[in-house]
Amino acid sequence: MEGKNYVAFTDFRFVNEAKSELGMIFRGRAEGLRPLYGEVLLFRLDEDYGRAIGEFRAARPTFIYGLLQVAKSLYFDGTYDGIMAALKDILEEGRKFRIEVKNVWAAVDETAKDVEVLLGRAMEGSGLTADLSSPEVMVYVVLVNDRALICTLDVGLYGQYVMDPFRKANKSGYSALNRSEYKLAEAVESFGIDVGSVALCLDVGAAPGGWSNYMLKHGAKVVAVDSALLDYGKLAARSILVVTENGNVGDLSGGRPEIRIRSAAPGALPGDISEYDMVHIKGRAQDALPAVLGRLGKFDMALSDMNTTPEESAKVLDGIAGAIKEGGRVVLTIKLVDNRVQKHINDVKRILSQNYGGFMVKKLPHDRMELTAFAIKK
Ligand SMILES: C[S@@+](CC[C@H](N)C(=O)[O-])C[C@H]1O[C@@H](n2cnc3c(N)ncnc32)[C@H](O)[C@@H]1O
Repeated sequence: MEGKNYVAFTDFRFVNEAKSELGMIFRGRAEGLRPLYGEVLLFRLDEDYGRAIGEFRAARPTFIYGLLQVAKSLYFDGTYDGIMAALKDILEEGRKFRIEVKNVWAAVDETAKDVEVLLGRAMEGSGLTADLSSPEVMVYVVLVNDRALICTLDVGLYGQYVMDPFRKANKSGYSALNRSEYKLAEAVESFGIDVGSVALCLDVGAAPGGWSNYMLKHGAKVVAVDSALLDYGKLAARSILVVTENGNVGDLSGGRPEIRIRSAAPGALPGDISEYDMVHIKGRAQDALPAVLGRLGKFDMALSDMNTTPEESAKVLDGIAGAIKEGGRVVLTIKLVDNRVQKHINDVKRILSQNYGGFMVKKLPHDRMELTAFAIKK
């Protein structure tokens, strides 16, 4: 088969999974599949990009970030003349372009950003028009050791795909409490969750508070559960009730006196949380939740980022299903405590399947040895 050259992007931790995922998406039509340096997969496919990306997106892949068709592949000797010449050939005059560069094990001193500026200026020097905010054509240059892969994408047809999701998070100017907060932001985008409509959210395994912070920033009230303290002083909440066994946790305002933090024993829990932006139940989910569920209203969304086995996390969410509204969204982390990746995904799906549907799993950019799952309360 002649075929067109394609490149797919993955995470070095999940190359094998990405390889079999690609095989499944294109049902044996992906030929000569080669993972390179744990970050890109090269293959040939006898299909136009429009069809290929349609199939790819419909399959909602877990382990692959993106898919591009390679317009040109050339030897890369650490200088940029060859790439510039190729770009001049490929780019059409009068169409506004933007270049994104990703370095996968190419030995160069320049950062990807430096190379973008260098190539962009050279193209402008030859009469082409760069437009960083609303390009018509995206140009992706992937430096893979001693090869440069050049891919282009019509933004009007396919949107503006970002090759390096970490740079996207960094560039967005979004200031997060911790790395975890980015994970939830990515889950919301990836699973298309309408967080703005969430009035009450349960966050299990919430400390130090990144996920809670994200929900608070988006206007939700949050019931957080964790036996550890949260970073109260950094949360986007002005009034927080901390519920602990002994009813007294001392000053936790983190030097922000405007934050109202009260503590109460479990028996003194209010009937609803209208007075507070957030209630933190200090305890293990399994011990603390039964006594408080149903006393604070039903949840529009429930989250679990507990660092426990995926099965345990799914069981906790299964156990609290009655406190989540029908149609309520659930996001949970599947911590890969060992390398039986598919087994853990299947276990979580099976445990949740009685009370939840619409199950999806994604390796998000900020996930490490973990995946993020999504489900909808039946
Ligand atoms: C990765 S951290 C959560 C980070 C959090 N999502 C954030 O954004 O800051 C995992 C948390 O799960 C909590 N945890 C583990 N097992 C738990 C359980 N059985 N019940 C409640 N919390 C638990 C730990 O105390 C820890 O604070």
